[in-house]
Parts: sequence; C-alpha cells; structure tokens
Amino acid sequence: MSSNGEPNPFEVQDSIPIIDYSLLTSGSAADHSKAVQDIGKACQDWGCFMLVNHGVPESLIQEVMDASDKFFNMANEEKLQFQTHGVLDPIRNGRGCNAVKQYKDRLWREFLRLIVHPDFNCPGKPQGLSEAASDYVKRARVVATELMKGLSESLGFEASYMNDELNLDEGFHLLAINNYPPHLDLDVDISPGVMPHTDHGLITLLYENGVPGLEVMHDGKWVVMGGAPNAFFIIISDQLEIFSNGKYMSKLHKSVVKDERTRVSLVITSGSSLDTAVGPSSRLVDGEERLPRYLPMKYSEYLDFQVKNMQAGKLAIQEIQIRT
Ligand code: OGA
Ligand code: NI
Repeated sequence: MSSNGEPNPFEVQDSIPIIDYSLLTSGSAADHSKAVQDIGKACQDWGCFMLVNHGVPESLIQEVMDASDKFFNMANEEKLQFQTHGVLDPIRNGRGCNAVKQYKDRLWREFLRLIVHPDFNCPGKPQGLSEAASDYVKRARVVATELMKGLSESLGFEASYMNDELNLDEGFHLLAINNYPPHLDLDVDISPGVMPHTDHGLITLLYENGVPGLEVMHDGKWVVMGGAPNAFFIIISDQLEIFSNGKYMSKLHKSVVKDERTRVSLVITSGSSLDTAVGPSSRLVDGEERLPRYLPMKYSEYLDFQVKNMQAGKLAIQEIQIRT
C-alpha cells in the first residue's frame, strides 16, 4: 500500500497468492484464462497458493475430521494392526515419522495415512469414517483434476495433456490425516509438527482446521500459510517440478504447531499412476538447448527413493537432478 492507502502497482506483492477455483471452472473464457495465468504465476513465484471457492462442503470436511478424531481416540490395541512401515501399505497409523535425528523426538503428531486412489482404503472403525473419507476424496479429486487441467494449460499445453501423459485416471492419491496435539507448555522445546520436506506427487491439497502451523520456505524465510478461511492450500510437489523440467519448483514446507488447540490437517497427495516413469515432458526438452534436468523414475520407485533420502537427511528431488 502507498501512503494514501491505495495499492501501489510498483510495490512487490509478497503474500501467498489466492486463486479462485470458481473462475477457473465456471467463469467466462476471459476469467478462465486469467485464472490459468494466475496459477502459472503463483507456481513460478511461490510454488504454492491458496484455493478459494472450491465447492467442497465444509460440513463434509468436518465429518472427516470428527470421525478421524474418534479413530485417534481408539485404544492403541485397535490401531496396532495399522502400525506398519511400508510406503505402499494401504492403511498406516503412527506417530512422528521424523526420520532425521535432529527432529526425531522434537516434532511429532499422530497420523492416519490411507491410499485412496485408484483403490480406496480405510479402517472399518470408527463408524462413519470410511463413508466420510470416501466422499471427501471424491470431491477433492474433482478439484485436483480441474487444477491439473489448469496447470497443463499454464505450461502451454492443452488441458488434457498432463492427464494423458501421466495416466492420471489411475493417479495415485494418498490421504494423510494429521492430528497435532495441543502444545500446552510453551517453555518445552518439543512442539508437534513435521520436519521440512517436499511432497512426492504432482500437487498436494491440504486443508487445516483453522489452527495455523504450515510454513513454506520462501526467499530464504519460513512463511506461515493461511489467512484465507476454508481454502485448500495447494503445494507444488516433486513430480510437477520434474515434469515441467524445473519451471515449477517443488515447495519446501514443514509444520510447527504452537497452539493450545488441537490442529488437524487433511493432506491429499495427487500424483501420476504408480507405474508411470515421470521425467521432464518431451515437449519441454529438445536434447540441444533445452536439456532434461531430471532423471525419469517410476513413481512406485520414487516413493522408496524419497524415504531413503529423507533418512539420509537429503531431499529426493535434489538427488534426482542431472548434474552438469
Ligand atoms: C504432509 C505435510 C503438513 C501439515 O503431511 O506432507 O506436509 O500441515 N503436512 O499437516
Ligand atoms: Ni508435506
């Protein structure tokens, strides 16, 4: 803002971009192109944005959160069967998951992590969780599909290009429900959270229950994401960086919760089919001036690769880069 309160067009806007989903999907042709352009700019400048007017009912989101709360409150014996470690285990429950020593006991939360597409998996208990989560995933998948079209167009392709190239009809989606306990004793240096990382899919759709905690690395500083109620936080992930050959960079993020309320986040990672080898789009490289900057890797292998790198304190996306 300038001193008279009017927005100053020459001032750098340094806040997380907001994209209006309704303009992308049901606006006029001009609204749609503007939304596509804004998405491209958000991806290049920030690697994340907040998506408003997405049409997923708040009541449905609340149902998922309420049912998941019942799950987390179940006796540990009932959850033991899900306490496994395989990246492709259909249902996983656990705490922490911060493989790096520095963070091991410092940042923790309880999570329920489900493979929800192409097949949907969910514990049968508590009652209502599976139905609510399944409805939620269907609604969120529509949003992800429309965003993929917009992202495709923003890269200069036809809307269906990413869908076809990456076999998104069979796309691999995980739903992680994270429950961060209240951080009551602010003097104690153990706060609920997740260590800095990038996500493995194309994009992540994250919804939080109004308690802040997600931070993204921007221009060398951690910035708290939030400020648009009921928005999805969209985070650009590794596959989109690889496919766009580095035009859109995967966003480093973490969560640190210092709040006397419980924080819940619903995190959907949306990626290619598991058997797709994701590499730079052939339309963005030519072997002469525009060289591929990443090695292609099958998504199922990348998931393992990411875990191994995380345990070694490295980021998979950096390790897959072709060094020149
Ligand atoms: C994740 C993640 C952050 C959050 O689950 O990948 O980044 O806010 N979660 O819960
Ligand atoms: Ni993440």
